[in-house]
Amino acid sequence: MSNPSNHGRYKKIVCAYSGGLDTSVMIPWLRENYGAEIVTYTGDLGQGEDLTGIRAKALRTGASAAEVDDLQERFVREFIWPAVKAGALYEGQYPLHTALGRPLLARRLVEVARQHGADAIAHGCTGKGNDQVRFEVTSMALAPDLGVVAPLREWELLTREDEVDYAFARGIQVPITREKPYSIDQNLWGCAIECGEMENLWTEPPADAWQMTADPVEAPRGSTEVLIGFEAGVPVSIDGVAMGGVQLIRALNELAGRYGVGRIDMVENRVVGLKSREVYEAPGATLIHMAHLELERVCLDRATFNMMRRLSQDFANIIYDGVWFGPLRENLSAFFDQANHTINGEVRIRVSAGRAIVTGRRSATSLYDDGLATYSHGDTFDRTAAVGFLKLYGLGYRTVASVRRKTGRDPLNS
Ligand code: ARG
Repeated sequence: MSNPSNHGRYKKIVCAYSGGLDTSVMIPWLRENYGAEIVTYTGDLGQGEDLTGIRAKALRTGASAAEVDDLQERFVREFIWPAVKAGALYEGQYPLHTALGRPLLARRLVEVARQHGADAIAHGCTGKGNDQVRFEVTSMALAPDLGVVAPLREWELLTREDEVDYAFARGIQVPITREKPYSIDQNLWGCAIECGEMENLWTEPPADAWQMTADPVEAPRGSTEVLIGFEAGVPVSIDGVAMGGVQLIRALNELAGRYGVGRIDMVENRVVGLKSREVYEAPGATLIHMAHLELERVCLDRATFNMMRRLSQDFANIIYDGVWFGPLRENLSAFFDQANHTINGEVRIRVSAGRAIVTGRRSATSLYDDGLATYSHGDTFDRTAAVGFLKLYGLGYRTVASVRRKTGRDPLNS
């Protein structure tokens, strides 16, 4: 589907670049088919790949300039923590690591496009996934005048072999390692693994698919305890030791990963209308969400707790759907920031093979009142007040009962 009329459509294109096969082939392809100058952009979200040498590699592949930056701190502060404060888990399970990374990468692509005076950006997403949506909607929301090119939706290079041949014919070096047959997207907040045998819903994910977690069967024997400390809804310490977000998430990934905690195997609804089988690993995210929810239970009044649980689903959908930079996400974030002011304290979690459970919680802003809760000495709860409370609380049901009896709809007689 290469379209000769695209030639000259854009002068300069900023291309999202990972150094992998697709984005490497994109450089010569965009130059030939669009006749454009190419600038690459690579952001480090903690994907665990060595990015030294990536600039040189991009330049060797035909880019005229290559930008690389470390986005980890920013990823945590501006995207991961707001998602934690909202308890955002898509369809109840997926902690959204990929979905949270895309708006940040797209924003940087747009900024780099401005710096270099480019008139378009390009990404290596397929036409079938959610990521194209996230890149393109972000770009539209931040820079509606910029063009967007998605070579994978246009070119005729349908297999890996086609891509390798294309590069080879142009004397361009591409990674021709025998890759695993999976599509893997990893960053600090988790990992997604799809394709290969896992396209069959009944097939258990093969052992070599997992990247961040040990098989629970091979986990250390016994268990270990970890204390996660929070301030205003944000994790700030492990076992009483204060640490920055990147370091804290890494440490929890390592700990939970060693015990095989945080494996998720789910079938999810994509934005583009199909269901897909996704296998995720989110060791640190699992512990952090678990601890945060526990403090919500302790520190929030009942009405706020319930509202937060309801809005948390909406927030997760917004992230998943790629509309991070829309007004509703900003408005909901304002609510979650406010509601998280009183979420402080520590949660103790016991971690053992494939399992994590909360065993304790303490908070200076706890709403748990010992005097009101106790069934022993020191009870401050006025049990006589329950009589009047029940009289009114049940009043409506007395009325319902008498009307039902009169109209022959008494449940006792049906
Ligand atoms: N299904 C997830 C999402 O849409 C993960 C996508 C991960 N991408 C990948 N190439 N494996 O956010």
